[in-house]
Amino acid sequence: MALKGIVKSAIQALVAGNGASPVLCRGLHASPGSKKIVGVFYKANEYASKNPNFVGCVEGALGIRDWLESQGHHYIVTDDKEGPDCELEKHIKDLHVLITTPFHPAYVTAERIKKAKNLQLLLTAGIGSDHIDLKAAAEAGLTVAEVTGSNTVSVAEDELMRILILTRNFLPGHHQVISGDWNVAAISYRAYDLQGKTVGTVGAGRIGRLLLQRLKPFDCNLLYHDRIKMDPELETQIGAKFEEDLDAMLPKCDIIVINTPLTEKTKGLFDKDRISKLKKGVLIVNNARGAIMDTQAVADACASGQIGGYSGDVWHPQPAPKDHPWRYMPNQAMTPHISGTTIDAQLRYAAGVKDMLERYFKGEEFPPQNYIVKDGELASQYR
Ligand SMILES: NC(=O)c1ccc[n+]([C@@H]2O[C@H](COP(=O)([O-])OP(=O)(O)OC[C@H]3O[C@@H](n4cnc5c(N)ncnc54)[C@H](O)[C@@H]3O)[C@@H](O)[C@H]2O)c1
Repeated sequence: MALKGIVKSAIQALVAGNGASPVLCRGLHASPGSKKIVGVFYKANEYASKNPNFVGCVEGALGIRDWLESQGHHYIVTDDKEGPDCELEKHIKDLHVLITTPFHPAYVTAERIKKAKNLQLLLTAGIGSDHIDLKAAAEAGLTVAEVTGSNTVSVAEDELMRILILTRNFLPGHHQVISGDWNVAAISYRAYDLQGKTVGTVGAGRIGRLLLQRLKPFDCNLLYHDRIKMDPELETQIGAKFEEDLDAMLPKCDIIVINTPLTEKTKGLFDKDRISKLKKGVLIVNNARGAIMDTQAVADACASGQIGGYSGDVWHPQPAPKDHPWRYMPNQAMTPHISGTTIDAQLRYAAGVKDMLERYFKGEEFPPQNYIVKDGELASQYR
């Protein structure tokens, strides 16, 4: 971080001294010497050696172990993230940098932040830092940054696949084949073309826009709702119509795709009441975050047919417990959290993490779009 930023933070902390607790910025400037860096990733076990580019797992360790250790840093990698005796807890007290990933989220609570006296930097290998208590991180003066843009194509492609899987009623047909059955009617009575359907995305940032661009050749009626309207040129190029009022857009949609971050405003956005106002039989794709939906309301609506199909890769919490209702609801095409962790995406977010660590060691700024918490402030869409 530039000196200017540190001074600004310090001034903010002093100005806040009116009885409210000041923001005590720790300053993102790696002091010389060895740093303790902890990474929490999913474990690959027997799959680890199947692909040399499989860097997103514990065994692959983002491919930065040799580089970090050659500079004298201490790099610990684990998948053990839950409970008071887990591996992560052992290192919380003295780590300087914590690298986490949304695919196997280490929940960085206010309590953990309080214990982490040396912590300066929280890096998200991927996109979406809602597993971190961002307000607590801001109050503690920590920097939170993610590798913005690293897996947007991966997620948009996956969403397109899920839209087609639901529209065509694909999965029950596949299950028939595996179980030795053959029943065309059981599939075709509710299989449709995508052409001519109304598709609305809630959130049209990096992923939402890529999805809209990919949907254009399918000749759908494309709508989007976002905090921010696109500039008219881009809107025309993408061919989607802006809907300022979310609740006016949703009942028009045959297919709804969620593409906003999980924030205080989007948490539980799709509750029982909102779902009841959707078109009967609506298809929903959610690769954004599980907690944007009311879990039980989605399960009930899938059971009643109000939701005709639900697909996504995000759950709350993760890994999803064995008794999570979405595992057992009808008309679903759920998977574990996989869309943003293709091998291509892993290589991009590993490179992004390395770049930010390099800048941190040199005391340089990160690319501005990567910051989620900086100088005691949350990025605008999280406020
Ligand atoms: N499943 C996965 O593997 C995976 C991978 C990457 C990202 N994601 C999720 O997708 C989200 C979006 O990623 P992105 O790269 O497109 O982010 P982005 O920041 O480029 O886009 C988010 C968009 O949502 C809009 N938005 C935010 N809050 C809103 C609100 N309350 N109402 C309306 N619009 C709102 C923003 O204005 C922005 O245009 C991430 O935050 C993450 O949660 C999931």
